Amino acid sequence: MEQTMLAEQVLEWKGRRNAVILAHNYQEGRIQDVADFTGDSLKLAQFAVRTDAEVILFCGVHFMAETAAMLCPDRKVIVPDLAAGCSLADMIMPGQVRKWKQQHRDGVAVCYINTAAAVKAECDYCCTSANGEQVINAIPADKEILFVPDFYLGSYLKAKTGRNIELWKGYCPAHAVIDPAHIEKLQEQHPDAEFLMHPECGCLTKQMDLADKILSTDGMMKHVKESGSKRFIIATENGILYRMRKENPDKIFLPASEHATCSHMQQNTLEKVLRSLITLEYPVTVEPAIARRAILCIERMMEISQPKAEVVHGWLDPEPHPVRWGDPVLAAANDLS
Ligand code: 13P
Repeated sequence: MEQTMLAEQVLEWKGRRNAVILAHNYQEGRIQDVADFTGDSLKLAQFAVRTDAEVILFCGVHFMAETAAMLCPDRKVIVPDLAAGCSLADMIMPGQVRKWKQQHRDGVAVCYINTAAAVKAECDYCCTSANGEQVINAIPADKEILFVPDFYLGSYLKAKTGRNIELWKGYCPAHAVIDPAHIEKLQEQHPDAEFLMHPECGCLTKQMDLADKILSTDGMMKHVKESGSKRFIIATENGILYRMRKENPDKIFLPASEHATCSHMQQNTLEKVLRSLITLEYPVTVEPAIARRAILCIERMMEISQPKAEVVHGWLDPEPHPVRWGDPVLAAANDLS
């Protein structure tokens, strides 16, 4: 189908289904162009809580849709392709968290949002790359922290907060291919360029000092808009370059690696988005027994996160929907001391 016609069909079906399309910053440009909202994992979760739509078509990876499904249990959350998983999330299993916690009985388990719901159910706090520091700082200072699964984000948070953090050795393959030697070469060629790095970067521990800023994907979007610099080296998944170039046509964005592509994220296509809206496939749900526990660490994160979600569309609810799963148990669960 011709591209404009395809996009028009998507918008028509979106209306018919009373759906919103949420797209992660790494999604292909055609999806971003039809999305109601494009953002990082935190903003997408915050948006999901505030939307009035009956259907949330989540274009990202599976754990993001699961998080939305837990935050919005009365909405239908669907994804264009169930094969869009997350290699990093697959590097930790619920039983491994349980075992680790048995070995560190006083430890507080913090999971990156890039984890399955069943892993979140074993953890005390959740965080994203945008709010990791706030979450760690909200935990009593004398507590040992067990951080899963991303070694590099965990290392960054350990350096930033000076806290006692034990690290799981998971990593994101798309970020791991970013080569510090190549970044140095780019910096030599473009001494005027600002170098922005996502904390999932495998090059982080060696090259942290080289980065001008270490930011979440939305943090990067904000920074490139506000900065006076004209040229940037971007160390994260290259899908973000579409949005950067579109929103900042007068600036130049250089990928830190041509190979930093997440094959999971790129499973989603505009053709699959249309099919999803027509067939309402594929639904993402979380077993209630898991959701009831997993929502606790997500809710804690949402509480801690500053700033709160902005109302970015006129039709969004002024107040977020209360989270049904967590309410009765949240107060008790919040007391970790
Ligand atoms: P952000 O939350 O910064 O968008 O990162 C999500 C992610 O999965 C990065 O690989």
